[in-house]
Amino acid sequence: MNVLLIGSGGREHALAWAISKSPELTKLYCALGNAGIEACAECVALDVSDHPAVVQFCHDRSIGLVVVGPELPLVAGLGDDLREAGILTFGPGKQAAQLEGSKSFTKELCAEFGIPTAAYERFDVLEPALDYVLKQPLPIVVKADGLAAGKGVTVAETLEQAEVALRDCFDGAFGSAGASVVIEEFLQGEEASFFALSDGRSIIPMTGAQDHKRAYNGDEGPNTGGMGAYSPAPVLTSAMEARVMNEIILPTVAGLQARGIPYQGVLYAGLMIGENGPKLIEYNTRFGDPECQVLMMRLKSDLLPVLLAVADGSLGRFELHWHSDVAMTVVMAAKGYPGAYEKGSEIRGLKGADAMDGVAVFHAGTKADGDRILANGGRVLNVTARGRTVLEARDRAYNAIQKIDWPEGFCRSDIGWRAIEQEDRNDGSA
Ligand code: AMP
Ligand code: GLY
Repeated sequence: MNVLLIGSGGREHALAWAISKSPELTKLYCALGNAGIEACAECVALDVSDHPAVVQFCHDRSIGLVVVGPELPLVAGLGDDLREAGILTFGPGKQAAQLEGSKSFTKELCAEFGIPTAAYERFDVLEPALDYVLKQPLPIVVKADGLAAGKGVTVAETLEQAEVALRDCFDGAFGSAGASVVIEEFLQGEEASFFALSDGRSIIPMTGAQDHKRAYNGDEGPNTGGMGAYSPAPVLTSAMEARVMNEIILPTVAGLQARGIPYQGVLYAGLMIGENGPKLIEYNTRFGDPECQVLMMRLKSDLLPVLLAVADGSLGRFELHWHSDVAMTVVMAAKGYPGAYEKGSEIRGLKGADAMDGVAVFHAGTKADGDRILANGGRVLNVTARGRTVLEARDRAYNAIQKIDWPEGFCRSDIGWRAIEQEDRNDGSA
């Protein structure tokens, strides 16, 4: 089967890497791809916002399955247009993608179907929002309703911060995404992510992961798209995963179905695990980046037939198998990220790092220049490793980083600290 993968980041490199191992694959195309993805797919310069052009490409190349990586094409309805043209697609349609594209859509669904989440109110104008905040305990969370490239959320410790966040939203700092604002209760606990697949009828659990969103060691500094991740997440015990499925994932998909909206793709639940169990922070309607990289390292099953089953509605007969190992990924970013950074610096030593036992170096933002690999983004590499323990996975990942010669890049040196502390405690009590 020929497959078209949409996207160009580390998540898509990990997906391409897993898909390209499948005996079912004839040829993999990727739009737009990057220098790493070129090793396992033919990268094509296709404008993915031009849906008729994508449909035409699929017809011309006999594409049997399209896998959509990022959220923007989903929210723009690429999934609907492909399915309408008879092309099997992994990724929800526009309406279902509102789970990620509109925070108030998700909050209303949670309220209607009894899904545990933070208490909230939605506002379309500033004054009542300011009045509301005055009456709430701090910290309080202010969120632009729409997609804001990960920048629309403020956890305000003070009233002043909350006010600035509200004014930013209504003054257009996030464009139309901030025209509506959700103000919600601050949840206590430990954050984790859980992934499940749905073909519109059947739902199967994948596994969990945890990521580090802050740029610097000690989980300090500005928020980023994620500086590293590991899977499994120690806080998601099998009992907790069962609760997440029963209390959050299943009622969400059932709630969508009740509204006549099928969900075909991966459901990524951002969770707070607190004293009273799991609560939903947010949904994404795609794989996490860099969480996908650790999921793909741990996945034992052939990925392609599973993606296809999501797209053709035959997921019910599937059970996924995972390596019991821990996988960890460390993000190497261009110095300055998530602020201003330079592009175009050369990265050396990638082959040596990638060849190490249990290691895969996924490219997040690179481009090839002849034989040279150049940095071409903020998050540039995801150095990913498997090990029997968190410590072993971490040591492998950081040993691989030692082989990479890229003075213009940086990474955190403490990815997985929480899981390592947990492992130490478990060893101590064993
Ligand atoms: P998001 O951009 O929606 O992923 O949110 C960014 C981060 O804000 C999350 O990963 C959490 O750390 C934090 N956050 C969002 N909502 C809440 C909440 N209700 N309580 C506590 N932290 C939150
Ligand atoms: N790593 C966070 C995300 O993919 O949204």
